[in-house]
Amino acid sequence: MNKPHVFLAQSVPDSVLSYIADHCDYTIWDKDEKPTTEQLKEILRHSDGALLTSLSADEELVKNCERLKVISTATVGYDRFDPIGLAKHNVYLTNTPYVLDETVADLLFGLILSGSRRIAELHKEVIDGNWTDKTTQPSLYGQDVYKKTLGIIGMGRIGEKVVHRAKEGFNMSVLYHNRSARPEAEERYGAKKVELDTLLEESDIVVLMVPLTEETTHLIGKEELSKMKQTALLVNGARGPVIDEKALIEALTTNEIFGAALDVFEQEPLPSNHPFLSLKNVTLTPHIGSATAATREAMAMRAAENLVAGALGKTPVDVVKK
Ligand code: DGY
Repeated sequence: MNKPHVFLAQSVPDSVLSYIADHCDYTIWDKDEKPTTEQLKEILRHSDGALLTSLSADEELVKNCERLKVISTATVGYDRFDPIGLAKHNVYLTNTPYVLDETVADLLFGLILSGSRRIAELHKEVIDGNWTDKTTQPSLYGQDVYKKTLGIIGMGRIGEKVVHRAKEGFNMSVLYHNRSARPEAEERYGAKKVELDTLLEESDIVVLMVPLTEETTHLIGKEELSKMKQTALLVNGARGPVIDEKALIEALTTNEIFGAALDVFEQEPLPSNHPFLSLKNVTLTPHIGSATAATREAMAMRAAENLVAGALGKTPVDVVKK
């Protein structure tokens, strides 16, 4: 029997490729520039499945792809894909939940610590040869993390891992804002579900972990920033457009809040003239929430398992349900 054919829009680790090869024939996109929409449509017309992590897909892309059964992304976020549009043409969308939760929570804690203790800012001073007696004077003191109040907006699995670290390691109080209550986090860590305004007003550190939807786009803007404490830190591990960056730049420039620590941005990669680059009170990382070797390999394998299952006509484990 002929093996199904799958398209890989980027390379995958050898172990993952060998798993795919056991079940499917494959082609890998090996050019530096991404395929154009027309090229992708043509490729997908001849594919049973596709791994499209760094691309996007909607109804228009797949509407003439009779063979196509699954589009897999090796990410947990799927805001660049339209699961409803794909489902109309019997194409599953799959993502990679669970395998990255601890790794992303680690990075978020790194951002919390860097932003609060000004690690990125002061690292740069040392590198630039500016370590003088003044570097350790009160104007450059940071903020404590231990025993402070953490506010999490979007309390899913990753949020709960952050809460675990906050409670067990840093004895923090935890507030959260989420559509549904998280009884386990409440019982285990004393986390308290509150309205958004209360969370903004009472938290020392506000962490964003909501998925990007119409409802969460620019969830944090001028008004919300004005409700935060002047000593507060804003951390974004969700998606850039959850924050109105223009409003955040204003708040950081006028010291309306203490600082921000950001892994995601409205435009990625961040343009070289972006105002964030000249602000001192920001920690910036290049969307690396899940970027450890072990976790990225686990994500690629999970995405491959979903891809192979779908291409073979089975229901993949991680079908995104809307
Ligand atoms: C995810 O998996 O969604 C991470 O943000 C990487 O894109």
